[in-house]
Amino acid sequence: MKEHQEKRGCVVTGVAGFVGSHLAERLLSLGHEVVGVDNFFSGHPENMASFRDHPAFNFYEKSIAEQNLLEDLTEKHPSLNCCFHLAAIVSVPYSMDHEDETMELNFTATVRLLQSAEKLQFKRFVFAGSAAEYGNDQRLPLQEAYADENTAHASPYGRAKFLGSQKVASSPLGVALRFFNIYGPRQDPRSPYSGVISRFLDMALAEERLTVFGDGLQARDFVYISDVVDAYLLAGGLQDSSFEVCHGIYNIGTGRSTTILELAEIIKALTGNGNAPRFLPERPGDIRFSLASVEAFSKAAGWRAGTSLRDGLRATLQWYREHRPEE
Ligand SMILES: NC(=O)c1ccc[n+]([C@@H]2O[C@H](COP(=O)([O-])OP(=O)(O)OC[C@H]3O[C@@H](n4cnc5c(N)ncnc54)[C@H](O)[C@@H]3O)[C@@H](O)[C@H]2O)c1
Repeated sequence: MKEHQEKRGCVVTGVAGFVGSHLAERLLSLGHEVVGVDNFFSGHPENMASFRDHPAFNFYEKSIAEQNLLEDLTEKHPSLNCCFHLAAIVSVPYSMDHEDETMELNFTATVRLLQSAEKLQFKRFVFAGSAAEYGNDQRLPLQEAYADENTAHASPYGRAKFLGSQKVASSPLGVALRFFNIYGPRQDPRSPYSGVISRFLDMALAEERLTVFGDGLQARDFVYISDVVDAYLLAGGLQDSSFEVCHGIYNIGTGRSTTILELAEIIKALTGNGNAPRFLPERPGDIRFSLASVEAFSKAAGWRAGTSLRDGLRATLQWYREHRPEE
């Protein structure tokens, strides 16, 4: 992708998280100023290690629940004109037990930040939406319009993300990227909030049996982190592309479906783990099949996920090998 000439000042909320840290790293490498915000609810300071001391990076340990957050940051950093809003409660089970907190952080705080960005005349506001916005809709592949007021969301997480995406997409500067299952280096395998790939890699490297919930025939659309960051740059208007209509909701996935058993087999082959998987009862609330239609963002911005699952898994595995804590 060709880089846009204009340098932007970017706020990244959730910068100490898995996705936010990769986004900040890339923005800095392209010469943009980055102001990062995180309260370490699920993120870690180590995720920022590669750019913590970059001269164009400033970090604020703050909650997105703070009033006037964007106003205060812009006063200190007048170049800011683009907000990548990723901070959220990311755990579906946690959201079930903490509905009000989830609505407050994932929806109300999003609206507040968006309104501040509009008032401050930011150029873009990019929101991290989720495939959970579709509930258990089985009309695959899932098209953006399928999630609507009638969707039965399986969790407050899905509901809050849906409402957030709607609100953001209705703003002239808003883009909501609906992510499917993102994976890659730095995803925390020990966290109860983490995705299946990081947990499988961790178990495989520990020479344990991979734990599969249900029959393993449930399928997901796994998208690699660097493809996600490419999508972010386009959504933020930071790449030369035909993507001029900057508001809307777009799925970010690969359009390819992989069952959990297929995934387990690939990971076993890559790691040399010969153990048969261990089957546990299906988890309540788990979605059976999830697959993105990726035509809308491809048409709007010329984006496609270019990393194959095997290549992405190899790169992720290498990182886990190098960074696994001693047992
Ligand atoms: N990883 C995925 O597969 C995936 C899929 C769909 C959507 N998403 C969305 O992408 C975003 C990033 O997810 P991730 O996988 O990097 O998760 P993550 O947990 O690694 O990152 C989220 C970050 O937000 C921070 N945070 C939480 N509450 C905060 C608050 N009140 N104030 C400031 N910071 C706060 C956390 O400490 C963490 O660093 C989230 O909005 C998530 O819902 C992720």
